[in-house]
Amino acid sequence: MLILDVLSPLLLLSILLPGYGCRAADIPEDTTSEFSVRLYQRLQAAGGQDNIIFSPLSVAVALGMVELGARGASLEEIRQAVGFSHLLPGVEFSLLQNLTAALLDDDSHYVIRFANSLFLQEGVTFNPEFLHLMKKYFRADVETVDFSESSAVAEQVNKWVENHTDSKIRALLSADDFSSVTRLTLVNAVYFRGSWKNQFRPENTRTFSFSRDDGSEVQTLMMYQQGDFYYGEFSDGSQEAGGVYQVLEMPYEGEDMSMMIVLPRQEVPLASLEPIIKAPLLEEWANNVKRQKVEVYLPRFKVEQKIDLKDTLQELGIKNIFTNNADLSAMTDVEDLYIGKAVQKAYLEVTEEGAEGAVGSGMIALTRTLVLYPQVMADHPFFFIIRNRRTGSILFMGRVMTPEIIDPNDHDFDSM
Ligand SMILES: *[C@@H]1O[C@H](CO)[C@@H](O)[C@H](O)[C@H]1NC(C)=O
Ligand SMILES: *[C@@H]1O[C@H](CO)[C@@H](O)[C@H](O)[C@H]1NC(C)=O
Repeated sequence: MLILDVLSPLLLLSILLPGYGCRAADIPEDTTSEFSVRLYQRLQAAGGQDNIIFSPLSVAVALGMVELGARGASLEEIRQAVGFSHLLPGVEFSLLQNLTAALLDDDSHYVIRFANSLFLQEGVTFNPEFLHLMKKYFRADVETVDFSESSAVAEQVNKWVENHTDSKIRALLSADDFSSVTRLTLVNAVYFRGSWKNQFRPENTRTFSFSRDDGSEVQTLMMYQQGDFYYGEFSDGSQEAGGVYQVLEMPYEGEDMSMMIVLPRQEVPLASLEPIIKAPLLEEWANNVKRQKVEVYLPRFKVEQKIDLKDTLQELGIKNIFTNNADLSAMTDVEDLYIGKAVQKAYLEVTEEGAEGAVGSGMIALTRTLVLYPQVMADHPFFFIIRNRRTGSILFMGRVMTPEIIDPNDHDFDSM
């Protein structure tokens, strides 16, 4: 019995700003948003009151790597679940390649690094065509390790991940994650760092109360600015979803990437809104937000999550690759190869301008009394996505139930 591990550590550091691009004819269109939303709904169902962060695009890329080595039901389940079944067989690899390439434009104002690597067991022979295609489509490095030396392998993989994620993801794996039956590990890391097009001024950041959905309050650092963003108010017409909610799209510098924040009304728990989130709705939001001046209150936040993709993907119909019946014969002639482990780790930090943005302790008074523009006050849980505005690719999706909590002893408390 052989085990194939798929690891998708993801890393994201962000600074924010808005930008616009229009889709040119040669720009690929991501077709995986349905899959992304289904993944989110599974995580939401399992997530209680926790923050959520994952990278749909990175999961799609990791699965693309597996699919490259798969045949039969193993291959078909992936195509179906991820949203490629309308494409001619094999076209999805070129699509994934183009979608990742679209993020790596030389003139981009942000940093995105996709780091894909395949760690092979010494002595196991992989199909040369498979290795060739891995390089071609996924720029995957291939390294040989001896999985029986589990501590050494864990260290090697962790170093690699660390190196490709600006040290934001450390100690992803431990020796326990490998055994003498492990033969292949796929590591997939994404690192993103962008600057907001309109940065928040650190001196406008102050302590603020954030109301969690369980009714408790925490003190957080709330950033503030008045600026031109993309904004809209939406309603699905049902009271269950809490009536009208706000969508704010804040581009990053260069305007190719943006963060979209979806905020229910103050008294409406995010859990009321989450069930209505569907792929077509993401599109509707993107198409209907309008450029205008908005007053934005957004907490600094840091979200991090390690996801067991094996459980989650099985719930979405990708089962075969995790069983003895897996057909990974395009990868190697070795029999009984299946995926024993699939993990993704994602990390996102949002600050005034970037991860290291300093926070001034001096506060300006924030006032709710005079509202000239629509006001987005994210002082309660919200949903977010970070997407490529040209291709629709969703780099990150998640929610903030609890932002970065500050120690009350460290800061001034100017209450509203
Ligand atoms: C990917 O880009 C190449 C080069 O522009 C193009 O030939 C190919 O058709 C694209 N593939 C897909 C699936 O869009
Ligand atoms: C880290 O990455 C750089 C460039 O990406 C590379 O030159 C270097 O060898 C890497 N170090 C390790 C330990 O992998």
